[in-house]
Amino acid sequence: MKKFNILVVGGGSTWTPGLLKSMCVRQESFPINQLTMLDTNADRQKVIGDFANVLFNEEYPDIKFQYTTDKEVAFNQELDFVFVQMRTGGFKMREQDEKIPLSLGVIGQETCGPGGFAYGMRSIKDMIELVHDVRKYNKEAWILNYTNPAAIVADALKRVFPDDNHILNICDQPENLLRSYGRLLDRDPRSFDPVYFGLNHFGWFTHLYDETGYDLLPELRDKILDGGFRPVDFEQRDKSWLETYAMVEQMVKDFPEYLPNTYLQYYLYPDKVLNKLDPDFTRSNEVMAGREKRVFTECKRVAEVGTAQDSSVVHNDAHGEFIIIVAESIAYNRGDHFVVILENNGIVENLPNDAMIEVAASLTKQGPRPYAVGEIPTFYKGLIEGQFAYEKLTVEAFLEGSYQKALQALTLNRTIVSAGKAREVLDALIEANKDYWPTLT
Ligand code: G6P
Ligand code: MN
Repeated sequence: MKKFNILVVGGGSTWTPGLLKSMCVRQESFPINQLTMLDTNADRQKVIGDFANVLFNEEYPDIKFQYTTDKEVAFNQELDFVFVQMRTGGFKMREQDEKIPLSLGVIGQETCGPGGFAYGMRSIKDMIELVHDVRKYNKEAWILNYTNPAAIVADALKRVFPDDNHILNICDQPENLLRSYGRLLDRDPRSFDPVYFGLNHFGWFTHLYDETGYDLLPELRDKILDGGFRPVDFEQRDKSWLETYAMVEQMVKDFPEYLPNTYLQYYLYPDKVLNKLDPDFTRSNEVMAGREKRVFTECKRVAEVGTAQDSSVVHNDAHGEFIIIVAESIAYNRGDHFVVILENNGIVENLPNDAMIEVAASLTKQGPRPYAVGEIPTFYKGLIEGQFAYEKLTVEAFLEGSYQKALQALTLNRTIVSAGKAREVLDALIEANKDYWPTLT
């Protein structure tokens, strides 16, 4: 059986221990020869890297593992898959993305609204560089990308690398939702055959077939309306995520046709969500005080005691496992079903062909083979077209250095609406992002 060479970009992420655990758990189905982790932040990479050495020593002794901050070491080797999870500007800039809009009275969120805009303008540059870095030595390696905001990153990469058919942008949120449906219905989520359409963090499940072809969605909808909705791993989730999942019930009440992605709460109820957000303590603060502290403290402890056996932070979670099962399906031409991001080209008949949409696809060696969705109803089409126009203008604002397009983008975003507010938010974000963004004129 072939063993794979993997590079993880953003190895110092708080999500990495979960990813490493998933690699251990799946070493039979996805055997790794050489794993390299790269991060621009040497301190973070060292903590996670030293932890990895202990974990692998116990659970994956035949893996060859290295971590580095040196791009040459990372990219100048034969690679099969590059897993990308970078966060340009780190949690400090995420905090700005959340707090600046909130201080001006609009939604402040990592990937949605003006926060997502700001993050997108930072991510595009590094993601373009990453693709060049990978392709310098590896023409065929699959780039599986988690980097957010995935919708904007996907659109930018499609424009800059139109002929590169080995880049796949993915998001674990549809997978998280499927696993949550599985728990609610007491079924194995891997047995689901979902139909889904939308943009990343902006989509809906329209059907959820079981292995006999029976649509479970009506039953699921009733369960949500009767008993509410929780994430599959609700015991481990912070308060803000529980509130986010709980909003699904409200969305299903108002629009019962389909089951929404949790991120739609920011666009459908900006007023309500805004009232719940604390401008002095946002999700990034919750993450820094919670997951980040836990992960780094625990990884240091594991490295010190030399065993990860009793470690509390290492879960084979959806984020870690999803990217590996996606890679498995591609590597072995298995054709398993996943919700992924790809160019529309007629999948949703009444959306623009060039939109990077999120839909169910079978994943093979040739990449995603999407399932046709057909025409979607006017309400969803209207929402998606507005959001897609915002995303497209964001990418153009970056590529052309255009202030005007940035202003148009933010004015179109449903979390802002007012052009005056859009300008105010944009000017504040420009100031905060001057070390990262191109100059907008
Ligand atoms: C989900 C989304 C990701 C996002 C993450 C944020 O997994 O799919 O795109 O980055 O949530 O989670 P956090 O715990 O950092 O707020
Ligand atoms: Mn996501």
